[in-house]
Parts: sequence; structure tokens; C-alpha cells
Amino acid sequence: MQVCRDCIRNMTGYTPGEQPRDRSYVKLNTNENPYPPSPQIRETIANFALQHMRLYPEPTALQVREEAAHLYGFQPDNIICGNGSDDLLTMAVRTFVDQGGCLGCFTPSYSLYPVLAQIQGAETIQIPLENDFTMPPLETILKDTSECNVFFLTRPNAPTGNNFCKEKVAELCQHFKGIVWIDEAYADFAADNCIEYAKHFSNVIVSRSFSKSYSLAGIRFGLAFGQTEHIHQMMKVKDSYNVNALTQKIALAALQDQNHMQTNVARICATRRRVAQRLEESGFTVLPSEANFLLAKPPVPAQKLLRKLREEGILVRYFDNPLTADYIRITVGTDEEMDYLLAKSKQIVDGEKA
Ligand SMILES: Cc1ncc(COP(=O)(O)O)c(C=O)c1O
Repeated sequence: MQVCRDCIRNMTGYTPGEQPRDRSYVKLNTNENPYPPSPQIRETIANFALQHMRLYPEPTALQVREEAAHLYGFQPDNIICGNGSDDLLTMAVRTFVDQGGCLGCFTPSYSLYPVLAQIQGAETIQIPLENDFTMPPLETILKDTSECNVFFLTRPNAPTGNNFCKEKVAELCQHFKGIVWIDEAYADFAADNCIEYAKHFSNVIVSRSFSKSYSLAGIRFGLAFGQTEHIHQMMKVKDSYNVNALTQKIALAALQDQNHMQTNVARICATRRRVAQRLEESGFTVLPSEANFLLAKPPVPAQKLLRKLREEGILVRYFDNPLTADYIRITVGTDEEMDYLLAKSKQIVDGEKA
């Protein structure tokens, strides 16, 4: 008897960015934050009594939802917490997309969405971005996704880093019949965001990650904001205790130290500007980025550069998509890390040209 569902047997599964243990690398491949999280968190951990671990956590991370509601001007009932924002995306597909149904997203965008559709036994309708990585015309999106219950829109987009025009996103929210899920994992690094759309449109849910701007990829935490009815349905789908007790305390402390997060974000944005300019001076084409990474087209073959950088102890990422085949994605690290990247990239590029 074949016990595994066909859709699972036939899928490859999500490929996470590499977390190597063989040697120490300058790790610019998974968009982690190079700076430590809020120092308040050290105290939170120190004060966390072992006794607390005996008990199950508060099932909905209520204290964090209350804090986030206060910070962003929502009610706690408009908010659901996840074990990372990936957990929220999983819940979204389970809640809104039928087996045999479909979800929509752009390509290139976050490669997890099609994997979640496969797990659900659903299809993904991928709408190619324009050649300059902007959104295609609204009519194209609506025509091709008319059967989709959910459209995942990543803003700023990953792996390209650009922010789609806010008015165009609003138009999509207005006309799309299903849920528009705005994945704002990188929004703290951007000039603007769409969180208010989760209030203004009844079909919009916005998610945030604590892995990037809050430097908390390791403890897994994310938030989603939307109408109470949608949040209520997702609450039925989530694992009973999906956010562990320590993570709840840490996420709360992180939210309460906005100053620390914003200071780190400002440093990363300043480094991002400087590195983009220096890469361009070395002959790269660099896309305008509003995230904590840069998508850059080197003057030599992208995969060759990636390989050579790896030999020099630097990890960056490559995405096998027709629109990004000539690019590498570089996470913005510390100034020191980026200086090393710039020096090695220049050396490799000059060596290839000679
Ligand atoms: C667009 C996008 N959404 C969501 C995530 C997942 O974030 P988390 O670590 O909160 O699960 C990522 C991670 O890289 C991402 O790039």
C-alpha cells in the first residue's frame, strides 16, 4: 500500500538557505540581522524561571498580541502569532486554500508559497513580474488568478528587494475576490508599508517577521494582522501551542524596545546604501532595495562569483528564476563584513576580466 499522499511524494520540499557548520563564513545568504537583539532580552531570559517550562504556554500569546495591538493601533482580536511568519503562511494556506484549489503569487517572490500549495494539494498560479521587477497590470493579475482564494504579495519583494507601488497594491486589494496576504517580512527596512490596508480592506492580511529587523530568527516569531473573522478562522487551524513560552516573553521584550530595533535598521539601511554604491562602482548592476539585502548583477557569471566567494569564506544566495538568473542576493551584514565582501568581489571580478 502506498501510504504517502501523492502530492507529498511528488514534491521536493522547501530548500532553506544553507546554515553551514564546516567552517566559519561571512554569512550573507539568509537575510539574518548581523546585530544582536535588544539587550532587554538578556534580562527576560535570566528572569525566566525553569518552573515556567513545566506549564503549557498561553495558547494565543495574548500578552504579545496586546502589545502589538497597542503599538500598531489594532485590537488583540485582529492579531495572530506564529512560530515565525512561515508558520502564519502555513496557517493561511490551510485556512483559505482548498485541496484541489489554487493560490496566486508573483514570480520571482518567496519560494515557500508554491511549496505550501503543494503540501495542501493545491496549485500555484505564478504571475511573472515585469522585466524591471514591478507589478504587471492589474487586469493580468486578476484574469489569471480569478480562481485563487489567496494572493501572496511580498512587499518589499524577496529576493528582489524592491517595494511595489502602494497605490497599485491597494487597487489589487480592492479588486481581488479572495484574501490578499501582504507578506511584510522586510517592511521595517522600507520607506513605507501597507499595515493600514489590514484595517481598510476586509480581505487583506498583513504579516510581519521578527527574524529580520528584530534579529530574532533563532527564536521563531511572527505576527499577522487582519479582520477578526479571518483571524478567528486561522486560530482554529494553528497548532494549539504554536508559540512557546520563552519566545512569547522574548517577543514582548523586543516589541517594547522599538528604539533598539529602529537603531539597527537605520545602521543596516546606511550600510545598504554604501554597499550598493560601491558595487556599482565595481561594475555590478544593483536593484534599488528597501529590504536588508541587495540583488546585484555582477559583471561576471553570477554562479561563478557565488562559488568563488564561497571559497573565500563568504556565502551569498542564487535564485534559479529566468528573471534573476544573472544576479546574486547579498544580505546586508556589518560594515566590516561588507568591506570584506566588496574587496573579495572586486578581486574576483578583476581576476576574471584580466
Ligand atoms: C518574504 C519572506 N516571508 C517570510 C519569511 C519567513 O520568515 P520567518 O523567519 O519569520 O519565518 C521570509 C524568510 O526569509 C521571507 O523572505
